Amino acid sequence: MFAPRALPWALMALNLATFTAASDLRSELTIPGVTSFFPGNPGYANASRAFNLRFTLEPVACRLADIVKIGKAHKLRVSARSGGHSYIANGLGGENGTLVIDMARFTNITVNPESQTAVVGSGSRLGDIALALNDYGLAMPHGTCPYVGIGGHSSYGGFGYTSRMWGLTLDNVLSINLVLANGTITTASKDKNPDLFWAMRGAGPSFAITTSIEFSVYTAPTSVIVFSYNWQLNVEQAATALGTFQKFVVEPDLPPEFGAEIILTRGAIAGNVSLGLGGAWHGDPNLLNSTVAPFLAAMPPLHGESFTPGNWIESVSVLAGSTLNTSSAPDYTDTFYAKSLMTPQASPMSLAARTSFMNSVAYEGFTTNTSWFFQIELYGGSNSKINAVQADETAFVHRSSLFTIQFYASSFNNAPPYPDFGFTYLDDVVDGITSNSPKDWDYGTYTNYLDSRLVDYEKRYWGSHVPRLVALKKKLDPTGVFDFPVGIND
Ligand SMILES: Cc1cc2nc3c(=O)[nH]c(=O)nc-3n(C[C@H](O)[C@H](O)[C@H](O)COP(=O)(O)OP(=O)(O)OC[C@H]3O[C@@H](n4cnc5c(N)ncnc54)[C@H](O)[C@@H]3O)c2cc1C
Ligand SMILES: *[C@@H]1O[C@H](CO)[C@@H](O)[C@H](O)[C@H]1NC(C)=O
Ligand SMILES: *[C@@H]1O[C@H](CO)[C@@H](O)[C@H](O)[C@H]1NC(C)=O
Ligand SMILES: *[C@@H]1O[C@H](CO)[C@@H](O)[C@H](O)[C@H]1NC(C)=O
Ligand SMILES: *[C@@H]1O[C@H](CO)[C@@H](O)[C@H](O)[C@H]1NC(C)=O
Ligand SMILES: *[C@@H]1O[C@H](CO)[C@@H](O)[C@H](O)[C@H]1NC(C)=O
Ligand SMILES: *[C@@H]1O[C@H](CO)[C@@H](O)[C@H](O)[C@H]1NC(C)=O
Ligand SMILES: *[C@@H]1O[C@H](CO)[C@@H](O)[C@H](O)[C@H]1NC(C)=O
Ligand SMILES: *[C@@H]1O[C@H](CO)[C@@H](O)[C@H](O)[C@H]1NC(C)=O
Repeated sequence: MFAPRALPWALMALNLATFTAASDLRSELTIPGVTSFFPGNPGYANASRAFNLRFTLEPVACRLADIVKIGKAHKLRVSARSGGHSYIANGLGGENGTLVIDMARFTNITVNPESQTAVVGSGSRLGDIALALNDYGLAMPHGTCPYVGIGGHSSYGGFGYTSRMWGLTLDNVLSINLVLANGTITTASKDKNPDLFWAMRGAGPSFAITTSIEFSVYTAPTSVIVFSYNWQLNVEQAATALGTFQKFVVEPDLPPEFGAEIILTRGAIAGNVSLGLGGAWHGDPNLLNSTVAPFLAAMPPLHGESFTPGNWIESVSVLAGSTLNTSSAPDYTDTFYAKSLMTPQASPMSLAARTSFMNSVAYEGFTTNTSWFFQIELYGGSNSKINAVQADETAFVHRSSLFTIQFYASSFNNAPPYPDFGFTYLDDVVDGITSNSPKDWDYGTYTNYLDSRLVDYEKRYWGSHVPRLVALKKKLDPTGVFDFPVGIND
């Protein structure tokens, strides 16, 4: 474990028109070792660019605990940015005038192979973490994009194809070094500050800024097959196919080494759905075919299939579709809107819900001038580690979902502006599912896919945990230093 000692670079922007005490703040934030950017400086535009170009933000200005104290004294909201991949630019505070602390220099990774643990600086990116662990033959569960930061990812979830076998990223957190809203530097673990430890795993950004996180890690699998099976279906077939998948994944013998999702993309002609089963198999390579066979047998003939066998780190790289070393190539940006919907395992999507879903995909999805994809990610099913965790063990409440469905649509050319019909399309698809589902259907939404337009968001993200989170927030951050859109703000 290490105390916060690295200095973050600062993202400094003062809105002089609205900020009377701006010059005070500017001088207070002039701290040796901190790089600052002000509007008009070269580098400011780059430093304040969000991954999602649907949001343009001008954050206010950036040693970490001191910065939090200065921010608090100036009644500013303070936000950490790790990988900057928040869907709604919350790394930049999600609204103008936030004091942003960039964690890009908190990237030390220390691996302890004997205890199978690793201490990871909060600004580390997933690709670099995977490479560092792989040097010791070790691995941990996380998402596929190498540029995503561990700071946000492990605060809110962290799903990848190993999650059925190893859980979400946040399920593997052992302890966290952090800075509280009053500038206190402390640690949260099962034994120290247990309430805070609970809140950090599911709602972290509303409570503290983490500097390093200790994880339990795993022996990397010796063989992984990245697979995809593809079909071109009509609406009725696609609705049936999703029903077939819902049945297949709850067969009692489905191994945890099977990680998968159904991927929906634009059909070849209006009325068609391109449906794929994609994922990674982490078990004995000879057993993938027999594992998938019952599903394939109940499906129409395949249109195509592909298998990429390899070792662990090769599979991480194949899924990333790019280099894992994030200092060797620049990241990209997008202009997009995304929604999510978690479906309960005990009450899978009805035929009516699936048919409405596939109708929107096959018709509106064919004509819409957005590029979109929907991923029906398998969180549950038999033998899933995600759902083996008790619902009250972490602030992440959703421990009985079958799927997390991600609905993602980008603007033409991935550039601003984002068109209104992009919102409409995703609303139509999701409304079609929920309006054909039981009124009391206990569906959630995924905190790592933050949705700035979600009404009722506290209930959807944190369900029955909202009262406990709100009470803790009042205690730990009564003045709202760590408030931002779609967080615990009361
Ligand atoms: C291209 C892409 C692919 C993705 N793939 C997956 C996937 O496969 N699986 C999956 O589960 N998710 C995936 N995501 C979602 C991703 O996990 C979230 O967007 C995540 O929260 C991003 O974390 P970040 O640190 O990069 O973002 P940031 O924008 O830096 O931060 C996100 C939030 O966390 C807070 N935060 C950041 N660092 C800290 C810190 N040190 N202490 C306290 N709070 C902090 C920020 O203030 C902000 O509120 C993907 C996102 C993108 C854009
Ligand atoms: C732009 O900002 C990113 C971090 O957001 C940084 O990694 C990169 O080096 C910057 N590029 C330039 C040209 O300054
Ligand atoms: C933040 O300020 C910029 C520049 O003035 C503006 O373009 C943008 O719309 C503002 N963003 C929000 C969310 O208010
Ligand atoms: C940083 O990481 C390296 C390599 O794991 C390790 O030797 C060093 O002690 C770490 N430094 C701190 C401050 O943790
Ligand atoms: C990534 O590449 C850089 C420069 O090429 C190198 O210094 C660094 O050690 C690499 N990181 C990892 C995690 O392999
Ligand atoms: C559309 O789907 C139907 C049903 O599978 C199929 O018969 C037809 O060939 C598909 N059309 C195209 C162009 O793929
Ligand atoms: C699995 O099935 C594919 C065809 O679907 C075949 O190419 C491959 O050889 C099979 N693998 C094994 C180990 O039998
Ligand atoms: C899609 O939108 C872009 C940008 O507005 C426009 O240039 C293009 O012509 C549109 N395409 C169609 C098929 O409408
Ligand atoms: C900061 O907040 C924590 C948690 O509420 C509290 O235990 C601590 O005493 C506070 N420290 C100061 C200096 O106020």
